[in-house]
Amino acid sequence: TEPMNEQTAFEPQIIAFCCMHCAYAAADLAGSSRIPYPPSLKIVAIPCTGRTDMGHMLKSFEYGADGVMVAGCLEGRCHYQSGNLYARQRVEHVAGMLEQIGLEKERARMVNVSAGQGARFAELANEFAETITELGPTGLKKKPAPTEIPLPAGKPE
Ligand code: FES
Repeated sequence: TEPMNEQTAFEPQIIAFCCMHCAYAAADLAGSSRIPYPPSLKIVAIPCTGRTDMGHMLKSFEYGADGVMVAGCLEGRCHYQSGNLYARQRVEHVAGMLEQIGLEKERARMVNVSAGQGARFAELANEFAETITELGPTGLKKKPAPTEIPLPAGKPE
């Protein structure tokens, strides 16, 4: 086992915007199958990753996230056709914005899973958490969390 140091002691705060049709179900499956993924990964269910906008991602960093993952349906399988493709573009855009303010672009990541891929979801979540742990805290001054963060609607209308 590795000796404890500041890096291993750091527990990154990760927000995962998960599409209800796939990643959210995959996370649930990982949980019920007892496949571990980091407890510090906060899952926010959204109707489609196409509903995630750059403001939501950037706000997550403002409120203390060290990394933001957007998890959508497999490419070609989005229930709203191209939501996950738009989401990928937005995540890449946010990554570029992070770089502009002196943070690492790796702190924003898009992943794709199907509802049945619980183990794959856990693997992707663990990989991302490892990356963020290596990067360490953002160093941003964290805003106090509001009682309700203006996140995308959790349920479709
Ligand atoms: Fe899942 Fe669009 S419905 S990403």
